[in-house]
Amino acid sequence: MPTDVVSSTRVPSWNGALENQNQRQIAASLDEPFPSPTSRMGRLRDSSDSYAVRILLCEVANTVLDEGLRECLAEILPQSEIDQIYRFRFDADRRMALASRVLARHVIADEGGSDTDMLAIDIERSKKAGNRPIWKPSSPKDRFIHFNVSHDKDVVVLAASRQLVGIDVMRIATTKEDRPLRDFFDSLRGSFSALEWRYITQPAGERDQLERFMELWTMKEAYVKAIATGLYVEPLRLECVSECNGASTSSTSTPPQASFALGPMKVDGKPLASFCFRHLRQPDGYMICLAMGPHKAAHELYGSFIPNDVLTCPYDPPAALTDEQVWVEAVDLTDLINRYTIPGAF
Ligand SMILES: CC(C)(COP(=O)(O)OP(=O)(O)OC[C@H]1O[C@@H](n2cnc3c(N)ncnc32)[C@H](O)[C@@H]1OP(=O)(O)O)[C@@H](O)C(=O)NCCC(=O)NCCS
Repeated sequence: MPTDVVSSTRVPSWNGALENQNQRQIAASLDEPFPSPTSRMGRLRDSSDSYAVRILLCEVANTVLDEGLRECLAEILPQSEIDQIYRFRFDADRRMALASRVLARHVIADEGGSDTDMLAIDIERSKKAGNRPIWKPSSPKDRFIHFNVSHDKDVVVLAASRQLVGIDVMRIATTKEDRPLRDFFDSLRGSFSALEWRYITQPAGERDQLERFMELWTMKEAYVKAIATGLYVEPLRLECVSECNGASTSSTSTPPQASFALGPMKVDGKPLASFCFRHLRQPDGYMICLAMGPHKAAHELYGSFIPNDVLTCPYDPPAALTDEQVWVEAVDLTDLINRYTIPGAF
């Protein structure tokens, strides 16, 4: 375990970084790295593309939670958020809650705010918006951004955009390592339509079936997170698969295979043309889905926080996002916290 370091200037410091360097190398050799950036990294602030999305990915398994960290956090997170983190019993949950809060403040400081003081950033979790964290800009000079966070099993992802976004990440695994896939599927039978189950169970291999399941699950979650309703929308009301005309077959002796397409999502049977979805996957690892929709979809929930010029933006998101519009960036949480708390580290 790292030992505490107290610098001569009495600025609290956290030396998890050096320790983490080795741990990260070990972790990297055990596992494939996260999806490599699909395109250039950039800042939304400097982009003229209002549909660009910045996705931050953070693996937190090796983040050291020690007293040094706790002292540093007081400089970048309000006490209420520090309390939220330490209210969790298990370190794994604390690490994910920590990354969620630090990434959110970082992306707002970097992209939207006129103020780079992390503590001055006002993030509200309002009951009206299902406790979805939302940035409340403090100055008319701020450029509003939407953000949304998701975490699962030591991975935290954040999506930020000028458009309304929702994101979901899931490890591609059943809820318990040794749980048979059939049992897992049976427990969630009622969350998917007959057509969706045909799509999920079409491949012969269990791994492929589980991947298809995760594709649909994350898509539904990303949507309910974008509109902030969460569990209030029953997953069965959302259908993510369409059957394409014509069936494919590789030879005349094998029966024709149905062919399916992901999307457009249907809500209560009606196609949802104003939202687009994009999956990112790490084979044998995690499935991520990003949902992007128009501001007006969120207006009723938290419109009063969004400046008028953003709300009245007339454009709906495009039918699909290109590689150039989705910027994926791996973030080292330790380095990020040090950047904001060690004087001169910026
Ligand atoms: C919070 C909720 C919206 C998502 O929960 P989850 O999938 O367990 O959690 P995720 O890791 O994806 O997301 C958690 C993060 O979402 C954000 N969040 C919280 N409430 C939110 C809401 N109403 N809408 C959008 N985002 C929300 C928070 O940032 C939270 O992380 P934090 O508290 O550490 O900051 C949950 O209440 C929910 O309703 N989930 C939908 C479940 C569902 O219907 N699934 C259907 C799939 S078939």
